[in-house]
Amino acid sequence: MTATAAEPAVDARGLVKVFERGRRTFWQRLRGEPDRRERFHAVDGIDLRVERGEIFGLLGPNGAGKTTTMKMLATLLIPTSGTISVLGIDVLARPRDVRARLGAMLSGERSLYWKLTARENLEYFAALYHVPPRQTRARIDDALTSVKLLDRADDYVERYSTGMRQRLALARALLPDPPLVILDEPTVGLDPQAARDLRARVRELRSQGRTVLLTTHYMEEADQLCDRVAIIDHGRIVALDTPGALKRTIRAEEVVRLEIGLADDGAAVLERLGRSATVARSERHNGTLAVTAHCASARDFVPAAFDAARSAGATIQHVEVVPVTLEDVFISLTGRALRE
Ligand SMILES: Nc1ncnc2c1ncn2[C@@H]1O[C@H](COP(=O)(O)OP(=O)(O)OP(=O)(O)O)[C@@H](O)[C@H]1O
Ligand SMILES: [Mg+2]
Repeated sequence: MTATAAEPAVDARGLVKVFERGRRTFWQRLRGEPDRRERFHAVDGIDLRVERGEIFGLLGPNGAGKTTTMKMLATLLIPTSGTISVLGIDVLARPRDVRARLGAMLSGERSLYWKLTARENLEYFAALYHVPPRQTRARIDDALTSVKLLDRADDYVERYSTGMRQRLALARALLPDPPLVILDEPTVGLDPQAARDLRARVRELRSQGRTVLLTTHYMEEADQLCDRVAIIDHGRIVALDTPGALKRTIRAEEVVRLEIGLADDGAAVLERLGRSATVARSERHNGTLAVTAHCASARDFVPAAFDAARSAGATIQHVEVVPVTLEDVFISLTGRALRE
């Protein structure tokens, strides 16, 4: 019955979630009209194995299916098809046992009671989550210590900053003392300092021996925080590895960003640039063309780019050699930027 340490924290296979677009009205239902709504795959065949003790990130743009995947893992949504086992327990067969072992902070359910203190909030949620009464006090203190709010436990939540509220929401997820913590966009809406602080708390969860599965659409966050990252797009995993290995899949060693002033549509200059680098992305804005090029050597490519621009009647206004990021990996896999 109990999970052994050998079992992965999460093992999902062939995960699919189909939704209908639009709505079917009461009258359509009453008249028994056929359901003509378009069905689409929000999650389209995901296989995911998260090992114990790692911080695993799902990175992808808006609408990629990250939250839907997390909700299925957290027993909050039933998959259309596929299997999920969490800590060796079948999620569909034993959802209660899974819920008792995971702490989830999902978007849309971060509400805390502002007129209560942090401790009162956690007492309320501890009762709701069936934390044994004898353990409640210790669990709350542990959870507050984990998020560095113990000294502010008796302050009203309405006097908390956004970052503190987010940390308290994380403390709430830690109340069951879960071996697995699921965080959906944990730093969204936080200022850089508060986001850094929350990431430090997440790293501490790993050092306490917990497994963390999180989603993000911030590539820097995935890069800095996660041991492994799955890049997800249109409900599918398009790449999965350590951040370092993902960045090494970009064959080019350097990424050069150019801003080119144009008199025409830019086709000529792009064609010429393409002879000495891979143009990963180009975007026109008024008379300027922003180009991201992947090349073997910026020292060779940059002069070639100036020649290309000159012979196409364009001018390079700005050149920047930048390190490869997970954004570049995403662009090379999908042809789009993460934040489009
Ligand atoms: N209950 C639902 N009914 C119908 N469509 C849904 C439902 N929930 C999500 N969707 C759709 O499924 C797709 C995936 O949504 P999801 O929330 O999983 O994306 P996400 O990767 O979390 O995006 P974001 O970065 O914006 O949070 C979207 O097109 C969304 O509109
Ligand atoms: Mg989401």
